[in-house]
Amino acid sequence: MDKLIVEGGHTLAGPLPVSGSKNTALPLMAAALLADGVSTLSRIPDLRDVKTFANVLRISGAAVRFDEARNEMTVDASGVNYPEAPYELVKKMRASFYMLGALLGRCGRARVSLPGGCAWGPRPVDLHLKGMEAFGADIRLEHGYVVAEAKDGRLDGGVFRMDPSSVGATINLLLASATARGPSRIENAAREPDVATFGEMLRKMGASIEGLGTDTIEVEGVDALSPVHFYNASDRIELGTFMIAAAMAGEPGRAVRLTDAAPEHLGPAFVDAFTETGAGYRPGNDYVEVTAPDELQPVSIETAVYPGFPTDLQAQWTVLLTQARGNARVRDTVYYDRFKHIPELHRMGANAIVVQNEVFVAGGKPLQGATVMSTDLRAGVSLVLAGMVAEGETHVLRVYHLDRGYEDLDGKLARAGVAIRRVQYDEFANPSGNEPPEE
Ligand code: UD1
Repeated sequence: MDKLIVEGGHTLAGPLPVSGSKNTALPLMAAALLADGVSTLSRIPDLRDVKTFANVLRISGAAVRFDEARNEMTVDASGVNYPEAPYELVKKMRASFYMLGALLGRCGRARVSLPGGCAWGPRPVDLHLKGMEAFGADIRLEHGYVVAEAKDGRLDGGVFRMDPSSVGATINLLLASATARGPSRIENAAREPDVATFGEMLRKMGASIEGLGTDTIEVEGVDALSPVHFYNASDRIELGTFMIAAAMAGEPGRAVRLTDAAPEHLGPAFVDAFTETGAGYRPGNDYVEVTAPDELQPVSIETAVYPGFPTDLQAQWTVLLTQARGNARVRDTVYYDRFKHIPELHRMGANAIVVQNEVFVAGGKPLQGATVMSTDLRAGVSLVLAGMVAEGETHVLRVYHLDRGYEDLDGKLARAGVAIRRVQYDEFANPSGNEPPEE
C-alpha cells in the first residue's frame, strides 16, 4: 500500500492546478450510455473512482477508452445490452448506483446491486427507488439487488418530490426520465453545479430539460438521444480544498494562484466563511488567488445542500480551525456522522470534541506530526492539510482513499512547494518483531 509523508512547515507557494470534477465526471459517463453511438468526454480526471465506473459501464456492454494523459474518455454505447451492475463494483463506489437510471433509460430495465454501508454512516437510496416508482418503474428487491422494469420497456415519467434534496437521486431520475414517454417534474431537486453541468450534457444530447440549477426541474421525454462531445467542469471541492490549504500554509501577504478553476461553483456560503477568516480571495475567470492572513480568524460553519457550505469541505475546514486563534464550531446537517478524521487529528494534538453532529475546535495550539490513518476521501485530504502545518513529519496511511478523488495530489502539492512524498509500506508488518499484545 502507499502512504504519504508530509514534512510540516514548508510554504505552499503555488501555483496549483485544479482538475476536472470527479462528482460531475461520473454522471457524465452514465449519460453517455443513453445514446447509441460514441460520446467523447474531455477533462475527465485520472482517478480510481473514474476507472471503477468505467468498468461498471463496460459490464453493460459499452466500450470505454480512457486516455489518462489527455484526460479524455470515449464511451461507445452502441453495444449496451446487459442491464446489470454487480455488487463487486457497486460496493467499491456508491455512484455506480447511477446505473439504475442510465440502464432504465436506455434498456427499460436494470438489475443493480444495493450499495450497502459507507464509512460515514447510513446513506440510504430510498429516494432513488421511490422516484423511479413515481416515474413508472416496477421495483423489487432480489438477493441484494434492485430489479427495476419499465412497463412496455419505457418509463412513463411523473412527478416526484424529494425530501431531503439529494444529488444522487436527482441525477438518477434525470437519467431515467430523459427518454421517458411523457413529462416529468422533480421537486426539491438538487441545485449543485455538478447536477446542472450533467443536465447540460443531457440537453446537448437532445434532452428537453428546464430548471437546471433551481429546485424544480422539468423534463419532456424524447424518443432518443444523440452522442456528443462534452467538457467536464472544474472540481469545486478540489478548489475549496486548495483554498483552505493556501490560507493555512501560504506565506502571509503573498498570493497563491489556483489555476483551471471555476470559482462560480464554490457557492456563497463557502466564499463568505472563507473571507471571514481574514484570508484574501480574488477570483478571476478561471483562476483564484488566495492570500494567507497574518492570523486566521475562527469561523463557525454549518453544512447544507448547495448553495450552502459543502459537507465535502467540512473536514478540511476543521483543520483550518485548528490554526485559527479562538474557538469555533463545525456542524454537519447533511451527514451526521462524518467525523472519522477527528480521532486522527487528536493524535496530532488537535483540541477538538465531537458532540452529536458538531465538532467544537479550540484553535491556536500547534499540531504535531504523527502517523495517521485516512478513512475516507475528504478525511484523508484533511490529514494531509494538517501535516502541512504540523511540526515534524506526518505519515498518512491508506492513500488509496485519496486516489479515489484527488488527481495527482502529492505531485501537485510537491510542485507548489510542499515537502510531500509517496512511499510504499506493508500495513501488516510488525516493526518490533514482538508479538502483538493479546486482546
Ligand atoms: C453526493 C456526493 C458526495 C456529497 C453528497 C452531498 C457524488 C458522487 N457524491 O453524494 O460527495 O458528500 O452528494 O453533497 O456526487 N438521502 C436519503 N435518501 C436517499 C438519498 C439521499 O435520505 O435516497 C440523504 C442522505 O442520507 C443525505 C442527503 O440525502 O443526508 C444528501 O445525500 P445525497 O445528495 O444523495 O448524496 P450523494 O448523492 O450520495
